[in-house]
Amino acid sequence: MAAKSILLTNISKLCGIRNADVKYVAGQAMSVLPQIESAFLLIEDGHIASFGEMANTPERADEVIDATDKFVLPAWCDSHTHLVFAGSRENEFADRIKGLTYQEIAARGGGILNSAKKLNETPEEKLLEDALMRLEEIQQYGTGAVEIKSGYGLTYEGELKMLRVIKRLKEISSLTIKATFLGAHAYPLAYQSNHQEYLNLLIQKMLPQIADEGLADFIDVFCEHNYFSVAEMEQVLEAGAKYGLPGKVHVNQFNVLGGVAAAIKHNCKSVDHLELINDEDIAALHSSHTMPVALPGCSMFIKIPYTPARKLIDAGLPVALATDYNPGSAPSGNMNLVNSLACINMNMSPEEVINSSTINGAYAMAVEEPLGTITIGKKANLIITKPINSIAAMPYYFGSNPVDRALLFK
Ligand code: NIG
Ligand code: FE
Repeated sequence: MAAKSILLTNISKLCGIRNADVKYVAGQAMSVLPQIESAFLLIEDGHIASFGEMANTPERADEVIDATDKFVLPAWCDSHTHLVFAGSRENEFADRIKGLTYQEIAARGGGILNSAKKLNETPEEKLLEDALMRLEEIQQYGTGAVEIKSGYGLTYEGELKMLRVIKRLKEISSLTIKATFLGAHAYPLAYQSNHQEYLNLLIQKMLPQIADEGLADFIDVFCEHNYFSVAEMEQVLEAGAKYGLPGKVHVNQFNVLGGVAAAIKHNCKSVDHLELINDEDIAALHSSHTMPVALPGCSMFIKIPYTPARKLIDAGLPVALATDYNPGSAPSGNMNLVNSLACINMNMSPEEVINSSTINGAYAMAVEEPLGTITIGKKANLIITKPINSIAAMPYYFGSNPVDRALLFK
């Protein structure tokens, strides 16, 4: 949008107001969603210029948006997606309905390798076009910032192709986008009996080229039995660190392997999934500023346990929520549904899920400086809801879209 002023008036409640120095919220503080009733908010050049009670509304602006009966809050920050992908995997969905598990399907050659085959056969332009449609859809659900991973290439050409698509999305889309290199998503068939050879390809060939072209902001590894061991994850994280790429890793999805403590040792920005978690993991998180990220859409879709968010929050830790949007374990980018699932299945309160999906999600993808709260000077990436009576109405009407519009600025 052009450099102009936009005034939101008669906002029923303006939610998520924080000081600029708040990087994330943890423990009990997560149940508080600071707000002003009957508010205005002024946007200048795409940034929050001022806000307050309606009695103090500025007199003029280039454009006025009346938000009577509507709530205004920061747009969702979805810190974990794989939304560049080719084709789909409905056949695996049907197989799971018949009783096969995610791991059994993967062992039969389905899963990530199935998506990798499709991706390598798909031209860059088609990947871009499909991903743009997905971005348009998630914007309508209120997402203003999204992290997107590679990891369906698993070849030099395929990984580079995915990351170049993400780079183009950053240029074209009005969403704020971060890119994560997930070459360590699964071992291609040819390397299954020689892991080190694939790791060498990833570390010695893919990473330098990715760094050269400035294609990634983070590095990720799927640390799990039959995927990457803790030691292999550490090797990849160490290599990423040499190129200034902080880790955001998949850990504890099906097994507790010690990946959480290892990730924290390598200063990872976030540890994601955590469907299973033990006391050592919680102790390690306590000693860190690493964000635990829960993905309840994945838990629902492939019928695995939900991340014990209550246990984390009650232990004084923060939690972020994200969609994990991908064709295998979570084919939805709808953050409103994620919030509903977290309330219903993880016993998080509406205030907690909104903090998890805004400021904590922003921190998990390192965009908490410009985004994630209502703060003067931050980018005015905002959700204007449909008319609602309380913030709880957002997760309560599960499956419907409570977002009237998302305002996004480059
Ligand atoms: O986060 N767990 C690993 N990666 C994805 C699933 C990828 C896929 O099945 O295609 C996840 O769930
Ligand atoms: Fe994932």
